[in-house]
Amino acid sequence: MESPQIIVLDSGGQYCHLIARKVREFGVYAEVRACETPAEQMESAKGIIISGGPRSVYEPGAPMIDPSIFNLPGATLGICYGQQLMAYLLGGDVQRGEKGEYGMAMLDVDAPSQILAEVESNSQVWMSHRDTVKAVPPGFTALAHTSTCAIASMENATRKLYAVQFHPEVAHTHPGKQILRNFLFNICGCHQDWDPSQRIPAVEEYIRKTAAGRKVFFFVSGGVDSTVAYTLCLQALGPNSVHGAYVDTGLMREHETDFVRDNFARLGAKNFQIVDARNEFLAPLTGITEPEKKRHIIGEQFVAVQERILQSGHYTDDDWILGQGTIYPDTIESGGTTKADKIKTHHNRVAGIQRLIDAGRIVEPLSLFYKDEVREIGRELRIPDELLDRHPFPGPGLAIRCLCAEAKGEAQRIDEGYILPVHSVGVQGDERTYRPALALDNLPADELHATELINRLSNINRVVATVGSRVPMNFMHGTAGTITDSRLARLRRADAIVRRISTESGFEGKVWQFPVVLLPVGTDQHPDSIVLRPIDSVDGMTASTVFMDPALLERMVSELMAVEGVCAVFYDLTHKPPATIEWE
Ligand code: XMP
Repeated sequence: MESPQIIVLDSGGQYCHLIARKVREFGVYAEVRACETPAEQMESAKGIIISGGPRSVYEPGAPMIDPSIFNLPGATLGICYGQQLMAYLLGGDVQRGEKGEYGMAMLDVDAPSQILAEVESNSQVWMSHRDTVKAVPPGFTALAHTSTCAIASMENATRKLYAVQFHPEVAHTHPGKQILRNFLFNICGCHQDWDPSQRIPAVEEYIRKTAAGRKVFFFVSGGVDSTVAYTLCLQALGPNSVHGAYVDTGLMREHETDFVRDNFARLGAKNFQIVDARNEFLAPLTGITEPEKKRHIIGEQFVAVQERILQSGHYTDDDWILGQGTIYPDTIESGGTTKADKIKTHHNRVAGIQRLIDAGRIVEPLSLFYKDEVREIGRELRIPDELLDRHPFPGPGLAIRCLCAEAKGEAQRIDEGYILPVHSVGVQGDERTYRPALALDNLPADELHATELINRLSNINRVVATVGSRVPMNFMHGTAGTITDSRLARLRRADAIVRRISTESGFEGKVWQFPVVLLPVGTDQHPDSIVLRPIDSVDGMTASTVFMDPALLERMVSELMAVEGVCAVFYDLTHKPPATIEWE
């Protein structure tokens, strides 16, 4: 493709690459470029989209664009930071936010426009920002607002300049596709020049080129991504050239190893082994509480196991490369583009893996795709639904759902509830946050309550409701837990209970993922609590909380409260953003 109709300028946002994907889904070719790309290199584009990003326009070194793009013949759409940058450069007023607006918001349309054509008032949109546009630049009209954002969209149709503060590219923004369609076809006049159905032959070609006659050694986890990536390699190179290994890290869910053993035989895997490495993973995790440290240890341990297997199998550097089921969110969340913030280091992005990437010894067939695309590819490859429809499960396994704390701490009473003495990871305004959660006494009646609390209280990034407890909250404290066999067994037990009840009741099919998390919060006798985190998503980039039938919840809670050592059960009410799906 010589010159893309749409160019997406990367300001470091979590969803930058997703914008290009969504444009291509309309059959319009789009490419991501560095945000400082000179305007004269984009003269032939029909449209330019400026992505969101983690910085404020006032920060020294904040991503900058060439302002002459506003005079190009094509149209420009600014998204989130892109709207702020447009306002800032063209004489509007951008103010630094004291607090932000994260996750769900309702959009009200105030004026007719080209960019919001056919968008109705009271539409659900997804936000993730701190700074806001307070006054539009001369020649612009403000088009819409939410309860916390007075200028949620603006346009200057004469100059073909458009902007939105929210994210039309994410699945949770209901009118998102309409807005992109308005921009691509009505405003930019794009035509269809891209066929997304040709991806499997292209990926197989990429695998053959990258392998260049060498064998591929592949770690599989039993999850969707590695299964699909492994099958693509089998198909591209043939079963004699692909060796697979499943590593039992000791951080897996109940019966996972048996599941993998049974299913991989059915995929036609010839050279496939199951490696017991439980001690190799657990020993270095002893006493570690910091979540990024846990992730690095696990990722590097995978590299060490791989080296051990390859040495014992007499492979040499010249005749093998490593295959991984990395998908795009693993890359972007690990801070894998020049300006994006690191939210968390995915297990397939640690330093040892980076060395192999730099040496050209890694093949990652799915690295540009998202989970929903991976499932579609898997169906085209006729992988059984039983494997494809599995909920995502992170490579580092239960270790990231087993929260740790170094020191004991007290829960702090505030008007709204109790601030728990544990921190978890969030993503707010495209930036990583690491903050405590607020525990409410009960489930709130209003779905927006948790969002409103996090927008207002800047020291928290999650809200949970207490749905079961042995003692009142003021009798509980932080219990300083680390990763131990007994805590892992407790979490594995709780996870198995939740999975069994979810499967039996059909709730499993109503959610995209359902992490069960262990918190070191309780009493001396019952030192841990459980968090239920059922969410809905399409691609894992944004997520919304899913509520459960009260009778089903009661059944789950009563079984969980009977697990040895469990003091309380909490229900996570937080969308992504502001929280991530996992707790860490
Ligand atoms: P977060 O927690 O960042 O997760 O909202 C988004 C999705 O990614 C999964 N996840 C991982 N998957 N290796 C993986 O293979 C990892 O290190 C990892 N960390 C998070 C998470 O379960 C969710 O589906």
